Amino acid sequence: MRLTPGPARDIDLDRVDLFDLDLYASGDPHPVWDAMRARAPLHHQVLPDGREFWSVTRYDDVCRVLGDHQEFTSQRGTVVTHLGTDDVAAGRLITSTDPPRHTEVRRAIGSRLTPRAVAPWEDRIRQAVVRFLEPALDGGTFDLAERALRLPAVVTGPLLGIPERDWDELVELTAMVTAPSDPHFRHGGEAATLAIAHHELVAYVTDWVARRRSAGGDDGSLLDHLMSVRAGEFPLTDEEIALDGYSLLLGANVTTPHTVSGTVLALIERPEQFAKAQADPLLVPNLVEEGLRWTSAACNFMRYAVGDTRIGGGTVPAGGAVVAWIGSANRDGTRFTDPHTFDVTRTAKGQIAFGFGPHYCVGAPLARLTLRVFFEELLQRFGSIELDGAPQHLRSFFIAGMTHLPIVAQNRKTP
Ligand code: HEM
Repeated sequence: MRLTPGPARDIDLDRVDLFDLDLYASGDPHPVWDAMRARAPLHHQVLPDGREFWSVTRYDDVCRVLGDHQEFTSQRGTVVTHLGTDDVAAGRLITSTDPPRHTEVRRAIGSRLTPRAVAPWEDRIRQAVVRFLEPALDGGTFDLAERALRLPAVVTGPLLGIPERDWDELVELTAMVTAPSDPHFRHGGEAATLAIAHHELVAYVTDWVARRRSAGGDDGSLLDHLMSVRAGEFPLTDEEIALDGYSLLLGANVTTPHTVSGTVLALIERPEQFAKAQADPLLVPNLVEEGLRWTSAACNFMRYAVGDTRIGGGTVPAGGAVVAWIGSANRDGTRFTDPHTFDVTRTAKGQIAFGFGPHYCVGAPLARLTLRVFFEELLQRFGSIELDGAPQHLRSFFIAGMTHLPIVAQNRKTP
């Protein structure tokens, strides 16, 4: 998705199609969201097949939809690609469950992913990042977006307890779930791609759970830990463990790579920002937060209104699907000064790339650590980075990302 908006243009909000994949693959969604925040903070769209949804784009409204489960439930599904089909795993999968059950499962998973729990992973992540960046410095073209898809594997794979030999397949399957219409990942039609990927992923984690059960013991991995988690009086069933493992895989694989490529592209387009970040290593945490805000890789999440609900100057009827556009909220000028300016000195406090409220990303500490280490190493090694071809954007209205970002990097000269 284009992250630097093009020139202002007239936008007819009655005709805007937020499900038009061309808008994200080759168009310019930010001016559309700007217009929605200004003129239609509650926007309603009916698709040709009769499915309908409401959109909120302002920062406060997005936080309210994501954060208030009593008004806006997650129990029918939260991913917009499934609009109109209730989640078969509702109430059992961490992402599609409301408190109080959600709170118990979430607490148990979160305890293994706190900043303190992930801190010991730093050296290992650094070694992986250094290995990842090395080939970029041989003077040839390096497709950062394509290669970055594999980056979470080396970080989250060992944490989940999944062998590295399986990661290529899992990366492919998770990409199919999030961008089923992208020609890079499509297998047949969109529905078929989604069905195949979902089935294969759940089958993979289910097999893994069965194997761990028969092996006995605890290998210290997060999936093993899930086997001891209780929701109320009962331990999670094997199916629930598999579903939560699926969420973790998805959460880890599909977001961090796009944050990396989108932030690197922003730096390529703004050499003065690159120079600033390089001159002051203390700016790296700022760069990470600004990169998260700027890219907002999980561009939206969905909820369903529990009752008739007033929001954004209108009313969503009970049962209506509401899409909370995180990518828009993170560019809301009432919250962020000059929102379309990428500025590494901005603190980007309050950015909501990780969501808001009870479902706030449980992997945020790990993602932040990975991104910090990535940019520390990149800025230390690369003297300059240039584009070596046009970036290609992901064909998805859910994940804002790239499939190709060809770059050429020069070694940083040591003084
Ligand atoms: C830059 C990287 C990432 C971004 C932008 C991101 C974004 C998000 C967002 C916006 C949500 C909220 C969903 C909602 O409100 O329904 C979320 C939830 C979640 N994320 Fe992430 N995520 C990232 C990295 C990760 C990683 C590394 C993991 C795994 C280790 C992960 C696992 C999850 C899980 C399991 C949830 C569901 C939490 C719940 O329902 O309580 N994410 N993520």
